[in-house]
Amino acid sequence: METKVINDPVVAIAGVTGAVGAEFIATMDKRGFRVGKLKALASARSAGKRLTFRGQEIVIEELTEGSFAGVDIALFSAGSSVSRRFSPIAAKAGAVVIDNSSAFRMEADVPLVIPEVNARRIREHKGIIAVPNCSAITALVPLWPIHRQNRIKRLILSTYQAASGAGAAAMEELVESTRASLAGRAYQRTVLPHPYAFNVFNHDTRIDPETGYNEEETKVIKETRKIFEDDRIAVGVTCVRVPVLRAHCQAITFECEKPITEQEVRTILSEAPGVKIIDDRVKNYFPMPIDASGQDDVLVGRIRKDLSDPSGHSISMFVAADQLLKGAALNAIQIAELLPERAMA
Ligand SMILES: NC(=O)c1ccc[n+]([C@@H]2O[C@H](COP(=O)([O-])OP(=O)(O)OC[C@H]3O[C@@H](n4cnc5c(N)ncnc54)[C@H](OP(=O)(O)O)[C@@H]3O)[C@@H](O)[C@H]2O)c1
Repeated sequence: METKVINDPVVAIAGVTGAVGAEFIATMDKRGFRVGKLKALASARSAGKRLTFRGQEIVIEELTEGSFAGVDIALFSAGSSVSRRFSPIAAKAGAVVIDNSSAFRMEADVPLVIPEVNARRIREHKGIIAVPNCSAITALVPLWPIHRQNRIKRLILSTYQAASGAGAAAMEELVESTRASLAGRAYQRTVLPHPYAFNVFNHDTRIDPETGYNEEETKVIKETRKIFEDDRIAVGVTCVRVPVLRAHCQAITFECEKPITEQEVRTILSEAPGVKIIDDRVKNYFPMPIDASGQDDVLVGRIRKDLSDPSGHSISMFVAADQLLKGAALNAIQIAELLPERAMA
């Protein structure tokens, strides 16, 4: 079958009014991603509203089964149930779907792609390509070049996840509940399960009563194995929500098969794509969400020997990344840039 060339693609964004949807547009602009025509899709609530794309006013349409006629690339960020229902319809209509939800990530015939790690998998797509979970992306971008040189056999990470990971409404809940708290007013939360201002709580995904793991943690474990193509990697993970507006952080400790030094990790990471080292011990300056916000790179610092492993196989570090960008929209646009259909031209 001839591969069609889509260098000036008709692009549909499903979930255009959301936190990730806005970043799709900003990222396409920033990277000069060529677009023949943009279809802006959201729920019936947003139908008829307008947005401006490259100087043109575009009317937002309700996402329906008929939305994908003539669409070349469909970027989905409208939740798993929407993806599960509409992505196959979009793929059947001839679009390549790049999906930010968890709906298809673990399906065997769906590539789960971080371009810095496994771009080659993009070519194997059968209509749908999945963007990994944002916590998985944040950890795996810096860990992959280390893993390639000295296999990581055990990984322990704890997340500090921002409001933006739960969408635009959660960001507003953080701002408004903080205002209310400072003013001594009561606040009726509607998005997150616990008071958000000045608080930290277990990630707001379902918790498995048997294992005690929340879904975010399970995603990180499963997706790490799929992306690294390494079923033996042992992953321990704790995911919590912190009252930060944007950009996730993680404390990561990993144990390699062979001994590894702090200096070796620095050398590897200084050449790693998508990674920026921020590690100033004199000034006590390390990765922070405030610096990661709006940045494409995963910031990595506090690189040090894990003193709990005297054998010298383990390193600890602290990372921060804008999960609306590298954890979602940027990763998706990077995939779109690498589609074989575009490379044909
Ligand atoms: N936020 C992140 O950092 C992040 C990272 C990775 C992946 N993701 C995934 O990306 C998706 C969206 O996340 P978000 O943070 O952007 O959420 P959000 O800010 O809450 O936005 C949700 C978007 O989905 C649309 N939508 C909801 N129900 C719909 C329906 N029935 N039909 C069509 N559109 C519908 C909304 O449209 P209306 O405005 O019309 O309601 C809105 O545009 C989720 O699957 C999430 O897991 C998010």
